[in-house]
Amino acid sequence: MKVITAESAGFCFGVKRAVDTVYKEIEAGGKIYTYGEIIHNEEVVKDLESKGVTVLHSKSELEKLEEGTVIIRSHGVSKEIYDLIKTKENIKLVDATCPFVVKIHNIVEEESKKGKKIVVIGDASHPEVQGIVGFSDSPVTVVQNKNEAEAFENDPSQEICIVSQTTFNYKKFAELVEIFGKKGYSINTVNTICSATEQRQTEAREIASKVDAMIVIGGKNSSNTRKLYEICSEMCRDTRLIQTLADLDSGFPESTSCVGITAGASTPNYIIEEVQSNVRGTDF
Ligand code: F3S
Repeated sequence: MKVITAESAGFCFGVKRAVDTVYKEIEAGGKIYTYGEIIHNEEVVKDLESKGVTVLHSKSELEKLEEGTVIIRSHGVSKEIYDLIKTKENIKLVDATCPFVVKIHNIVEEESKKGKKIVVIGDASHPEVQGIVGFSDSPVTVVQNKNEAEAFENDPSQEICIVSQTTFNYKKFAELVEIFGKKGYSINTVNTICSATEQRQTEAREIASKVDAMIVIGGKNSSNTRKLYEICSEMCRDTRLIQTLADLDSGFPESTSCVGITAGASTPNYIIEEVQSNVRGTDF
């Protein structure tokens, strides 16, 4: 079987940095907590739990905590959470927010202070977006689709600043920005989609367009993995979404001679390699 694996598959810079941070803190000792799962990957989260790391699932869990180290993951958190941690004397804050997300926090904080209306293009239920929203001084509108963009109305005298969730699909972002552009508002758009995401999406689209079957590896809860799956499915009818090699239970049709592989930002390298060597060795 010919296998084409995307060069951009797997951990991005921000995720690698966050995961490495947790392992470093484990070595340093003490009780470690992550605010939310450090990445959307069950394998990695299980490994960390086996090493004594506890995941905090909510603000109320954090409120009850009195000591230990709290690590903020690459998605970042809202200002309110930073402030809460800072009130706790015996808690050490380790911030592993990806610098690209920090950049969005800064833009939103500064521009909202100037009186601009903030629009975030992204998924309102995603923790990264919730964190971004939490840096604005004034109410934020989160827009995810055409209907929401078309329905958007604002005071015409107020300037608007549009930013994006780092993992948003670039094509959709451009479409939504175009809708805003037709409304006659004064708009400052900052494309804050992370280049790692763009590269991964572009490469996935290219590979999916020329293979017989495409495998997307990633966590079920990972939004960037789901987007990769969406993109690949448009280009290749036999696209499969798996979390580990164990999910690849059905073989490929006889006509399959070339399989493409890509993986979301939270997929460790060893899982990609396992899938790759297994598929390469498949003999139909
Ligand atoms: Fe950061 Fe981009 Fe990864 S924003 S966490 S490097 S996808």
